[in-house]
Amino acid sequence: LHYPDPDCVALRQALAKRWHLSPDRFAIGNGSSELIYLLPYALSLRHAVVVGPTFSEYERAVVAAGGRVTHIHATRRAQYQPSVEHILGAVQRGGRTIDALFLCNPNSPTGQVLEAASVLHIARRASAQGIWVIVDETFVEYCEEVTVLPQVARLPRLLVLRSLTKFYALPGLRIGYLAGAQDIIAALRGKQPPWSVNALAQEAACVALHDRRHVRQSLAFMRQERQRLVLALQALPGLTVFPSAANFLLVELPRSSRAGHCVQALRRQGLLIRDCSSVAGLNERTIRVAVRTPAQNRRVVATLQQWLAR
Ligand SMILES: Cc1ncc(COP(=O)(O)O)c(C=O)c1O
Repeated sequence: LHYPDPDCVALRQALAKRWHLSPDRFAIGNGSSELIYLLPYALSLRHAVVVGPTFSEYERAVVAAGGRVTHIHATRRAQYQPSVEHILGAVQRGGRTIDALFLCNPNSPTGQVLEAASVLHIARRASAQGIWVIVDETFVEYCEEVTVLPQVARLPRLLVLRSLTKFYALPGLRIGYLAGAQDIIAALRGKQPPWSVNALAQEAACVALHDRRHVRQSLAFMRQERQRLVLALQALPGLTVFPSAANFLLVELPRSSRAGHCVQALRRQGLLIRDCSSVAGLNERTIRVAVRTPAQNRRVVATLQQWLAR
């Protein structure tokens, strides 16, 4: 009988090599979700700012650990592109009460992306105020040029989350990682249950990290297919498609439509799209559509077209 390696040594060494950082700058999690839930404890967070509209688990994790959250939302008028000035203003106004900032880049479910220089500008200013900056890069493989992960070596308050769930299509294995300062990584690992990352996930992650062919093929496919899907959706009457750097598109249905009705109608046809009307900061007409195979994308477009013409 073999237990998994509780310290994930091989994977942490592989990550160290990949990023030219020491292995003790990495914590491995049972999905990045486990790390999101451990961070508020490891950092003793009391009050975090979350840049939205975004993934709901940051708030749930902070609240579960007894903290509270302030949201700052990018606006629809700005196509949900976060404003660096707005973020810095909120951080400054919060003063000493704020101890962390959560930023998802590229963001889910909006697909918006901030340049690395902007993220680093925010991280430097926040760090100077003693604020932790947690950048969730779960979808960043689709636009790797914006990653700030290597900068954890220079900014001790910067923490970067990664996942193998999305780009490597391994949601069921549960594997993700966190990069940051050694003391915080050690504190977080100290709070983690033993063997929380299974042996198959550790092994698969080591293999995935070396799979350059998957990276090339997947990126080439995504660029082409996403653009094709954008054009096809934009051609449907009344749909607004927001720019996306990830493997999904945020779409707004015509006025008087309801995302919930659309999602139900597509589900009856065997198509699962995401109702985003409950995401704080998005309106009741917003859905998220994944970029899938050309045939599946054509089906989604055709079914949406029928629904719009109902
Ligand atoms: C933005 C974002 N971060 C993190 C996660 C968690 O991913 P996992 O726990 O599978 O690594 C998700 C999953 O949906 C996500 O959308």
